[in-house]
Amino acid sequence: MTVSLPEHETPMADTSVPEAVLENASGDRSIGMHLVHWFCRNQRPLPWRRDYDPYAVWISEIMLQQTQMAKVVPYFQRWMACLPDVRAVAEASMDELLRLWEGLGYYSRVRHVKKAAEMILARHGGRIPSDEKILRTLPGIGEYTAAAIASVAFCRDVPVLDGNGERVAARLLDWEKPVDEARTKKALRQALAQWMPPGRAREFNQAVMELGSVVCTPRRPSCDACPVASWCRARAAGTVLDRPVKARRGTAEEVTVAVGVLHRHEKIFIQKRPPQGPMGSLWEFPGGKLENGETPEEALRRELFEELGVTVAVVGKVAEIRHAVTRFRIRLHAFHCDLDPPWQELKLRSAVDALWVSPEDLDRYAFPSANRRLIRILQKNRGDAV
Ligand code: ADE
Repeated sequence: MTVSLPEHETPMADTSVPEAVLENASGDRSIGMHLVHWFCRNQRPLPWRRDYDPYAVWISEIMLQQTQMAKVVPYFQRWMACLPDVRAVAEASMDELLRLWEGLGYYSRVRHVKKAAEMILARHGGRIPSDEKILRTLPGIGEYTAAAIASVAFCRDVPVLDGNGERVAARLLDWEKPVDEARTKKALRQALAQWMPPGRAREFNQAVMELGSVVCTPRRPSCDACPVASWCRARAAGTVLDRPVKARRGTAEEVTVAVGVLHRHEKIFIQKRPPQGPMGSLWEFPGGKLENGETPEEALRRELFEELGVTVAVVGKVAEIRHAVTRFRIRLHAFHCDLDPPWQELKLRSAVDALWVSPEDLDRYAFPSANRRLIRILQKNRGDAV
């Protein structure tokens, strides 16, 4: 299936911030101490917070980049149980890493983790660097992640600005400009740096992120439970729900795809995506996006000819699955199909590997989420049939 979805850590262009932009950024460090005390009393007991082992902090930060905390924790625990240190990651196969990551999405993250682990072994004696600039030379570690690792794992005094922090800072300052603008991000980061009590970056940065995710939430903030409510300019102005201001975004794009379930001797055909590009090295069912005016069946016959050089008969519908990823709403039509005529040889034109696998064994391979839901349906249908 050749659906291209973007995956990356958003690069941030830095422009200079005029003094006037910061005129209302209070330099009051008692905001910072209140946040630190609140965090010490109210933090969630997350597994990487036990000893702040830099390897654990790094993996947690990468997993948290585009994923909710509640979803990350079990993945993190399973990862740590299988891969206790940097060397284990460097030596693991990409298939094993992808299987541990499957369902978290944004699979370029796991490819970067493997490359970074190899570099940490080769260049840094297996130890995660503590310096932000050096951290940024590692794949998958951008401005945000470098600051998070440097402060949370190594207590370096650098502010961290994630989406939760943006909301907290924009509300404290009653910031009226869109948070998507580079100059706003720079201004908010500067305000956080002013509030941060020296030597307490670990607690302060996590306090800001934690406050944003459990108290200063987007739609139903619990201002009565907020340790810094008395400093909050948006609260005083009655604009809490209007902050942060976001630049207008287009609506989610609908993508319709058709995939084929090809059968041979009780086994199903799967193919592996190339390592470069979205969902790289994941397994999938062959197929792809509908082109203008095509029915799903027509698109499937065309895609299987383009991807595998075969003609097929579409013999029945398996399922229609709706799935949302980032700004895409995917509608996946899945069909049983037979090679027609049956003796054709499959030629891999876009995939890098292919297998015939029994429905139970499909669980051994890493697939994109919509494909995994299709697998559950195939396994259930088979279970129901026996
Ligand atoms: N989000 C990302 N990293 C986090 C952390 N260490 N604490 C709370 N929220 C986070």
